[in-house]
Amino acid sequence: MSLLDKIDRQNTPKHIAIIMDGNGRWAKKQGHMRLYGHNFGVESVRNVLKAAKELNLKHLTLYAFSTENWNRPKEEVDGLMDLLVKTISGELPKLHENKVRLRAIGDIEGLPEACRNELQEAMEQTKNYENLDLILALNYSSRWEIKNAVKKIAKEVKDGIYTENEITDDLISDHLTTKGISDPELLIRTSGEHRISNFLLWQIAYCELHFTPVLWPDFTQEDLYKAVLDYQSRERRFGMVSEQITKSL
Ligand code: IPE
Ligand code: IPE
Ligand code: MG
Repeated sequence: MSLLDKIDRQNTPKHIAIIMDGNGRWAKKQGHMRLYGHNFGVESVRNVLKAAKELNLKHLTLYAFSTENWNRPKEEVDGLMDLLVKTISGELPKLHENKVRLRAIGDIEGLPEACRNELQEAMEQTKNYENLDLILALNYSSRWEIKNAVKKIAKEVKDGIYTENEITDDLISDHLTTKGISDPELLIRTSGEHRISNFLLWQIAYCELHFTPVLWPDFTQEDLYKAVLDYQSRERRFGMVSEQITKSL
């Protein structure tokens, strides 16, 4: 029985988020520059897109570049931005073929112009597709996102649009860059690190976390299925007790 066959189709996550980590270590292990690892990481993105299709996933969010990643050596940052431009244009036919809508979260205005243009063009061309949302977190950090949401909400309260008592969880969610996108049920981090690195802090309040030692360029479709099986082995209690969950099934 293949891993895919073992997956319970009634209980698959609708939204998976991935912290794609370990490209640099993967390259170093083979005596190459870090950028070599980033290039190979693109193949893993293709793999997870194929797996997402098999699983009928609705949203796939990939952490591709954090606001903190600007602090890396300039040649790595430049290489990553070039790779982004090349990858978006290279993969666009596949997005059309599979009716995948490309979206982005993060401070897109802060990306280099070539990158922003390529991204905006691809998002425009795919905006009516509904099979899967591929959401790239670019120049993203959760604290940046939450800080902006707080500023907007404070201004709207000041302008009398609503009162502070009307601030709900949903209202806060609607002020984040993920507005309209359901929270991820499963977050995967590769490379053996057990941290969140400023990713989707609000949205993962009740998300299941799956950490794997696999370095991102080695990540396969099977690794995604393993993560989903791990997710399905968990009991999601949302603060309740086990008996309440099993009774309601
Ligand atoms: C993830 O791999 C890709 C980005 C953060 C852009 P890394 O480049 O962080 O690889 P490691 O963690 O140094 O191995
Ligand atoms: C997180 O990976 C960001 C992305 C995957 C884009 P990092 O490699 O930047 O995270 P830290 O520095 O190890 O926490
Ligand atoms: Mg890393």
